[in-house]
Amino acid sequence: MSLVFKPEETFRGDYSYRNSDAAILRFPFPFPEDRYMYSVNIEPHVRSGPTDAFCRPFDIDEHYIAECRDRALTLELDPGRCQVLPHMMAAQWDTLELLMENLAADYPEQFSLTKEGDVFGSRWTWINRPLGIEQHFIFGDPDTLPCEPFEYITRQAQGDFAICDQREDNLYLDAGMITSQADWSLAFNVGMNFMEWHGPVPLAHQAGVFERALKYLLMLRLGQPVRRLNWTMSINPRLDTSPESYPEWGPDRASVTVENAGGKVHLRVELQTLWRLPRSNAILFPIRCFLISIEELARVPKWGKRLYRVLSSLPPELAEYKGLTRYLPATLAWLAPLDDGAQLATGI
Ligand code: HEM
Repeated sequence: MSLVFKPEETFRGDYSYRNSDAAILRFPFPFPEDRYMYSVNIEPHVRSGPTDAFCRPFDIDEHYIAECRDRALTLELDPGRCQVLPHMMAAQWDTLELLMENLAADYPEQFSLTKEGDVFGSRWTWINRPLGIEQHFIFGDPDTLPCEPFEYITRQAQGDFAICDQREDNLYLDAGMITSQADWSLAFNVGMNFMEWHGPVPLAHQAGVFERALKYLLMLRLGQPVRRLNWTMSINPRLDTSPESYPEWGPDRASVTVENAGGKVHLRVELQTLWRLPRSNAILFPIRCFLISIEELARVPKWGKRLYRVLSSLPPELAEYKGLTRYLPATLAWLAPLDDGAQLATGI
């Protein structure tokens, strides 16, 4: 796949991030129906799906270089956005291997990986052309990389990454590279278990969503990754919407009017995948974030209509939890003229 990157675009300051026509068309629109409620929406992560964004194990797109730069900026301001507990070293190498192998296989023009010798102790060469990196290292020896293996490889990938250790029939959030999260804190959640870190989510616990999801994940098998979509909204195309940086982006929620909603309000979709890791038996949880302004999204007429219907029927508890309450009326007023009332087929 040939990719044309937009290295100068920004996710802060002047917010120059935009989607090309091709990026709009591959957006992972998350609403197959006119209404939305939490569910255990997990399916196999196969090389197909409603748009091209689903088709590779680890997706990269035109925003790759700019997103890696934004991550580096966030880490410079707050190195605590990457944390790994000491017992997670095997999972770090598992993650590095999985990402390097898949990126090199799917994007041969951008990445290459060569190995000499057998697994641990073998000499690897990693080339990342978009970021201008050529790295020789020994797999399993962290001293041969400029930083620990998890940080090293996730600085070169789009999306956030968490690693969950599996023990006592539970999952523990024991590592993360989290610089583009929807308002949750790695520093607060690190070390928590599945039910603990999902504590603040409304309605889903009572519906048994998390109990079923955890049971399913504990049985996740090597080589059979799964995926799900999650969504929220953000004002401006901002990746770093963490609680730590709330003063920088929270007040923007009050700036939305019916006139500016089209360009300011963004749908934020997370294509989340779950991978059993081979040596550590941990679960890797990549959270690939896609941002699209509602103006861009409305260029696909059925998406504009559907978004209006979903938002106008959203349970208030979800609107509140997702932080939409303040600007929802202006957003709905902007979207309303797009809905002609015609029935929409199920699916995106
Ligand atoms: C929200 C982590 C898997 C469903 C969240 C939050 C975190 C998180 C940190 C934010 C909680 C807060 O407000 O502080 C993870 C991790 C997973 C995982 C590390 C890897 C195992 C799942 C799965 C499901 C799920 C498999 C399937 C049902 C949800 C839902 C929300 C949520 C529904 C609320 C999202 C929203 O409304 O924006 N998750 N999660 N999570 N998670 Fe997970």
